[in-house]
Amino acid sequence: MIIAIANQKGGVGKTTTAINLAAALAMRGKPTLLIDLDPQGNSSMSYIDVRTAAKSMYDVFVEKDVHLADVIVPASQKNLSLAPSRISLAKLEARLVGELDAPFKLKDELSALNGQYQHVVIDCPPALGLLTVNALVASTHLLIPIQSSYFALEGTDDLLETIEKVRQRPNPELEILGVVITMHDKRTALGRDIKAQIKKVFGDKVFRTVITKSVRLEESPAYRESIFTFAPDSTGAAEYYSLCEEVIDRA
Ligand SMILES: Nc1ncnc2c1ncn2[C@@H]1O[C@H](COP(=O)(O)OP(=O)(O)OP(=O)(O)O)[C@@H](O)[C@H]1O
Ligand SMILES: [Mg+2]
Repeated sequence: MIIAIANQKGGVGKTTTAINLAAALAMRGKPTLLIDLDPQGNSSMSYIDVRTAAKSMYDVFVEKDVHLADVIVPASQKNLSLAPSRISLAKLEARLVGELDAPFKLKDELSALNGQYQHVVIDCPPALGLLTVNALVASTHLLIPIQSSYFALEGTDDLLETIEKVRQRPNPELEILGVVITMHDKRTALGRDIKAQIKKVFGDKVFRTVITKSVRLEESPAYRESIFTFAPDSTGAAEYYSLCEEVIDRA
C-alpha cells in the first residue's frame, strides 16, 4: 500500500496526517516508510534533526547514482523509516525540465525497493506540480485531508482534475482511499455545516473518523514524536489510530 497524502491547499493537515498515519501503521509491526516530498521538510523535522541527514529526496531525483535506499534513515519510532526532504527540492522543477521520465522517478525508485516496506506514506507539498504528480503516479491510494473551514472545498476541483489526468495515462490504478476532515470543531454550527458540505461533495469517501482541533497534535512534532508516544491518551491519538483502522479496512 502506497498512500499519497495530497491537497494543494496549504495548511490543511497533510503533514500532521502523514506523520501520524505512518506512525500508526508502523505500530502494527510492519516496516513503514514515510517519504517527505515537501521542500518545507515538516515531516522530516517531525522525526529527525534534518541537519544530520547527508542526503535527501532532492538527490534521489537529480543524481543518477543516488537512490531512494541511500537516503532512508530510521525515524524515532520502531518500524518507521524516513526519506527526508530539503529546501533544495524547491528547485526540482527547474532541474528536471525536459526530462521525459520526470513524473516517473519516484515510482521507479519505489519499485527498486522490492516491497521492503509494507506501507509507504508520502507527504506532498501544497501544490499540484511535479512533486505531487510523482507521488500520484507512484501511489496505489490517495488520501485527501480537508480542513474543516469556511473555504474547505475551494480548489478541490483542480485536485480532482489532476487525479483524473493521472488516472487516464500514467496510473490507472490510483484509487481515492478517502477524505479526512481535519481541525474540526464540532461544538460550532459552522463546523457542523462544513462537515455536511464536505459529505455532500465526497459522499461515502469521507472517513467516519474526524480529526478534531487539538493542541497536542500541534505540539508533538516539536518534540520529534508522533502523537502516539507524545500524548498516547489524547483524543488526537485515538482519532489517528481509528483513521488508520479505516485505512487498513478500505485498502
Ligand atoms: N487537528 C489539529 N489540531 C490543531 N492543529 C493542527 C491539527 N492538524 C494540524 N494542525 C496544525 O495546523 C498547521 C498546519 O498543519 P499541517 O502542517 O499538518 O498542514 P499541511 O497541509 O501539511 O501544511 P502545508 O500545506 O504547509 O504543508 C500546523 O501548525 C499543525 O500543527
Ligand atoms: Mg505539510
